[in-house]
Amino acid sequence: MKGLIVKEKTITYNSDLKKPEPGKGEVLIKVHSASANPYDMESAAGIYDNYFKEYGFDQAVQTGLEFSGIIKTQGNKFNIGERVYGYAHLITGCKTHAEYITLPEEYISAIPTGLSFEEAAALPIGILTSLSIYEDLAPKPSDLNVLIIGASGGVGVYATQLAKQRNHQITALVGKGHVEFLKELGAHKAYEYVEKSLNDLEGNYDLILDFSTRFTLDDCRSLLSASGKFIPALPDDQNGGTSEDQHVAYLMVMHGDTNRLESVETLLTSKSLVPVIEEVYNFNNYNEAFRHLQKSGKRGRIILNW
Ligand SMILES: NC(=O)c1ccc[n+]([C@@H]2O[C@H](COP(=O)([O-])OP(=O)(O)OC[C@H]3O[C@@H](n4cnc5c(N)ncnc54)[C@H](OP(=O)(O)O)[C@@H]3O)[C@@H](O)[C@H]2O)c1
Repeated sequence: MKGLIVKEKTITYNSDLKKPEPGKGEVLIKVHSASANPYDMESAAGIYDNYFKEYGFDQAVQTGLEFSGIIKTQGNKFNIGERVYGYAHLITGCKTHAEYITLPEEYISAIPTGLSFEEAAALPIGILTSLSIYEDLAPKPSDLNVLIIGASGGVGVYATQLAKQRNHQITALVGKGHVEFLKELGAHKAYEYVEKSLNDLEGNYDLILDFSTRFTLDDCRSLLSASGKFIPALPDDQNGGTSEDQHVAYLMVMHGDTNRLESVETLLTSKSLVPVIEEVYNFNNYNEAFRHLQKSGKRGRIILNW
């Protein structure tokens, strides 16, 4: 089978990989589309090697988290031929830059009617991360004052739309050229981050979401309300994300979740929540796709197609 493998910290193509066999509770899926994600560059650079070792990771393909595809073996919930999408485990099991993957059924969901494979593959991480923030970590379910840093990126475009659904007041810091687009997605105020930095903002935010991974709790403290929370996308000691400070909430979405994906099905079919795709590449052009991924100014996700 075909897949992308990491060789000497570089992502390369291989057409001679072993097709995985589903274990108990898993299904075999033929991947149609998968996103190229900042995680993939981090993984290729070796940032997750210690975790891979700790969890006994034994797959050839170690990049690719979200995907869409077709079920190839009968499951308990999903049937052969069904169109599904989802998010693999961050560390263990199959990664999605492969022609075939096996995954636990509870990580995947049926693709809602009206969505293409490419659109479906652009959604899972953004949806699951945003729902984890608003449903598990936010101080209340609606009417929050939210600042989204990196709102035009692969997660931010969904964090903005799902904040709108909850009637949050949204301020978005975005990449060049995306102010009007973020307002269309639901931001009440939007600024290009090169024009307006955190220091130029005034506010009393209940949530500050940092998808740019550039800021720390100390950078944001003066902008938080009395019960406000800073949520860094990659929580660590340096940005304060792993501290016990009452103004921090710890974000970590480890794998897909059928129930959570199903919970937004109506929003997706009614187009109240829309996928955002920067560009679609063939897997053969993965080098070009990853070069594009590292450029500034993108909007939403880059998708790879078999
Ligand atoms: N903890 C978790 O569970 C979890 C879940 C999902 C994702 N993540 C992590 O979240 C991070 C973001 O993911 P993503 O897919 O959204 O990445 P992305 O698509 O690269 O988005 C990052 C955004 O930040 C913007 N940005 C860069 N510098 C900025 C600055 N100084 N001020 C404001 N915005 C700035 C970028 O704009 P330009 O491109 O225009 O420069 C881009 O729009 C990744 O590191 C990912 O691994 C963590």
